Amino acid sequence: MIKPLIHSMAVCPDMTRSYQKITHGKGVYLYDTNGKRYLDASSGSSSVSNIGHGREEMVEIMADQVSKITVLPTHAFNSDVVEGYLQRLTEFAPEGFTKAWTVMSGTEAVENAIKLALQYHQLRGDNARFKIISRWNTYHGNSVFTLDVGGMKMRRGLYEQWLHNFPHISSAYSYRKPADLSEEEYTQTLLEEFENTVIRTGPETVAAFIAEPVIAAAMGAVPPPKNYFKGIKYICEKYGILYISDEILSGFGRTGENFGINNFGIVPDIIAAGKGISGGYFPLSAVIASEKVVQPLIDTKSAFLGGHTFACNPMGARVGNQVLDIMEREQLVARSKYMGKLFKQKLESLYEFDIVGDVRGVGLQCGVELVQDKVTKAPFPPEMKLSKQIGYKAIEKGVVLYPGSGSVDGKAGDHILITPPLTIKEEQLDEIVDVMRDCLIEVTVASKKLAI
Ligand SMILES: Cc1ncc(COP(=O)(O)O)c(C=O)c1O
Repeated sequence: MIKPLIHSMAVCPDMTRSYQKITHGKGVYLYDTNGKRYLDASSGSSSVSNIGHGREEMVEIMADQVSKITVLPTHAFNSDVVEGYLQRLTEFAPEGFTKAWTVMSGTEAVENAIKLALQYHQLRGDNARFKIISRWNTYHGNSVFTLDVGGMKMRRGLYEQWLHNFPHISSAYSYRKPADLSEEEYTQTLLEEFENTVIRTGPETVAAFIAEPVIAAAMGAVPPPKNYFKGIKYICEKYGILYISDEILSGFGRTGENFGINNFGIVPDIIAAGKGISGGYFPLSAVIASEKVVQPLIDTKSAFLGGHTFACNPMGARVGNQVLDIMEREQLVARSKYMGKLFKQKLESLYEFDIVGDVRGVGLQCGVELVQDKVTKAPFPPEMKLSKQIGYKAIEKGVVLYPGSGSVDGKAGDHILITPPLTIKEEQLDEIVDVMRDCLIEVTVASKKLAI
């Protein structure tokens, strides 16, 4: 039992509880100071440890790279390890992507992707374009700028006075579409909302649209309705708006394709990638740009005005390169697709519980939404913190999930995101579902007792 004690030196974690200390990880498992084992069904802070923990070959290549060079004066030099990796990133991206560079966090990658979109328009003389259209209930990073671009009301709350530069549209959420609309009609209303927002905002002021292919942490693996992204891309092209795919979580095989957007039949203009890109062995994220976007930079011989001390460092490149080697060797993208289908089937067995409203996902990015009533889809009161309760119970039972809330309206709505390492085996998927079932039994019994 984890004691509710405040004893962490860090300011970030939940101050009402203490955290068990992890000593090491191996494969899909983490081990704490008491030797207890946890199945990391979250892969770090969701979708990071795609290749599993404690890989010996990562130790070897990292030690080798440390003995050579870890960081460069990038204003003066380049290196083969970095150049080779950037080339490989463009090859991993859809056709037509020709340049890339790396930064540390996903937040930086998204912010740089947006800065690149702005510079693209400026270099073409389209100086009025600076607005970014995104969707409510989506997360694009935790800097004030990316919080403003993103649409998570709870995370934005404290910074309200600094925000409101960008328009937001509804996120595509088929499970909660108006009951009288077919999927096609629902898609049509979403696309009309987007186009009307562009027109109302002034198309000549809109630089880019940004979206996650499958809405992950904010809503629990919500895929788009059929043809939604095709329609969005069509409108973007019609009004000269760049399309940025936020692949921080959905990229690098998580959804059973190299990038999440590959599932939906469109090619974006810019990709922001992170998390699984390094398997968690080093802080690494990347911006990958299509030829169209980099052409004005080349034509005008203008450098991209993004620069960070640790951008394009050889250590990150070496790690990222090895992760791609492992992914190729173990066919982890295809494995994610196959295991994801199996996992979703297994998770669907949880529909036996009255409180399991929706099971969804693409590849090994899966989610379960919890509701008070399956017919009305009414969410639980946010004060119950139901998904958190389930998350804590699961940890006690040896499985790490990624609980979330606010999926319905930014405040109410409980979901569990489940993103195990792509190396996971079938019996380990069963282990996750068994623990989830036990947790659901416990919270169902507890809520019935409360009702009596
Ligand atoms: C979709 C998405 N974009 C951006 C980010 C920000 O990445 P980071 O936490 O590495 O800054 C995240 C992090 O969870 C994310 O899920």
